[in-house]
Amino acid sequence: MTQKSSNQMWGGRFAAGPDAIMEAINASIGFDRRMAAQDIAGSRAHAAMLAAAGIVSDSDAEAMREGLLTVLSEIESGEFNFSTALEDIHMNVEARLKEVIGAPAGRLHTGRSRNDQVATDFKLWVRDQLDAVDGALQALMRALVSQAEAGADWVMPGFTHLQTAQPVTWGHHMMAYVEMFGRDLGRVRDARVRMNECPLGAAALAGTSFPIDREMTARDLGFDRPSANSLDAVSDRDFALEFLSAASICAMHLSRMAEELVIWSSAQFRFVTLSDRFSTGSSIMPQKKNPDAAELIRAKIGRIFGANVALMTVMKGLPLAYSKDMQEDKEQVFDAADNLMLALAAMEGMVKDMSANRESLEAAAGSGFSTATDLADWLVRVLDMPFRDAHHVTGALVAMAEGKGVDLPDLSLADMQSVHSDITGDIFDVLGVHNSVASRTSYGGTAPVRVREQAARWKEILG
Ligand code: ARG
Repeated sequence: MTQKSSNQMWGGRFAAGPDAIMEAINASIGFDRRMAAQDIAGSRAHAAMLAAAGIVSDSDAEAMREGLLTVLSEIESGEFNFSTALEDIHMNVEARLKEVIGAPAGRLHTGRSRNDQVATDFKLWVRDQLDAVDGALQALMRALVSQAEAGADWVMPGFTHLQTAQPVTWGHHMMAYVEMFGRDLGRVRDARVRMNECPLGAAALAGTSFPIDREMTARDLGFDRPSANSLDAVSDRDFALEFLSAASICAMHLSRMAEELVIWSSAQFRFVTLSDRFSTGSSIMPQKKNPDAAELIRAKIGRIFGANVALMTVMKGLPLAYSKDMQEDKEQVFDAADNLMLALAAMEGMVKDMSANRESLEAAAGSGFSTATDLADWLVRVLDMPFRDAHHVTGALVAMAEGKGVDLPDLSLADMQSVHSDITGDIFDVLGVHNSVASRTSYGGTAPVRVREQAARWKEILG
């Protein structure tokens, strides 16, 4: 076996280079190259600060800042030669900077460590993702609000236990998802506020004896302030975990909605027609149009939940401060972020394109004795019956309708009066599904008037 030479960045005390397996398990360049732009932004801010604090000369800082831009453009154009021996993005960039500008590159790492550097880079990357998810959530919510406005008074069955419960409006159902994604938006924004402290300058773990200006680098990189404890700063991955937790809950919402789209687009339900753009065919069954996008969204939550559990598990046993275990944070977050963004975009596309089948929704809304509660409420309101008694009488009427194989509005007045003699013809007014939904005007209820108010409120918020 040929003896490799020791690492050019930290190999001073090493006589020999790493075993190939050591290099393979140690290197993160295969994935952390995705943080190249963040790494270079962090280094440029650090170089400017070193000069402002009198730690390096202005000309060295200028050379570093310019050289870093050259390195960035090499990476962006795809001509950069990534080296596994140089482990990670931080050392790949610094080594190339040395080639580009020579000696001044050796001063860049003054007063910092890869530990605060990686924490800073990763925070910047996660912050960008929080912003991207924020935008994608808003786009999806706008699509849902449009659906809600179009069908504010279309009736459909509302379910509990996936059994017909009471009629609701299509708009109300769409707006339920707006509320769910609205909470996701809140979680993303909360996480962003909490994470926005800059680790740069915490150095390896203890801070530095150089007179660095952490306020300056924090400000330059768009952070609200420097993080207050250097040990915490280099060992904190809460921001990644908060991203994954918020992503998991959001993915769970996407999956629930995907599940409904799968059910609704089936021949048995026919509640919605998904567009060709978001469906696929079968290679053997010519009649098929499959809701693959919805199914894949439903499936993708698995890897997002998995990423959350994986990183929680990585972190749970780590003593302060940095441990190499933490290098395992990135792939999980990258994969979760990619798949969440894809799922959000696919859901937005499906919602925008789908058409609700108004007739099927309405026909289903009236079946399954869905207005039985309206009937019971009528008995309470008009005949002053206690609700429990009204429930009992209604149950007898449902049994009668079921026996005759008809729905409640199809029973005759005489049938009704055979169960309770005080019932009058007015009762038929409440058995229609449109009257049923229109009557549910309590705040947060399904009445079209309430749905339109909520849609208007969210439109205002979403701009
Ligand atoms: N590649 C490393 C990571 O992602 C960078 C930090 C390395 N720090 C160290 N002390 N070895 O965590």
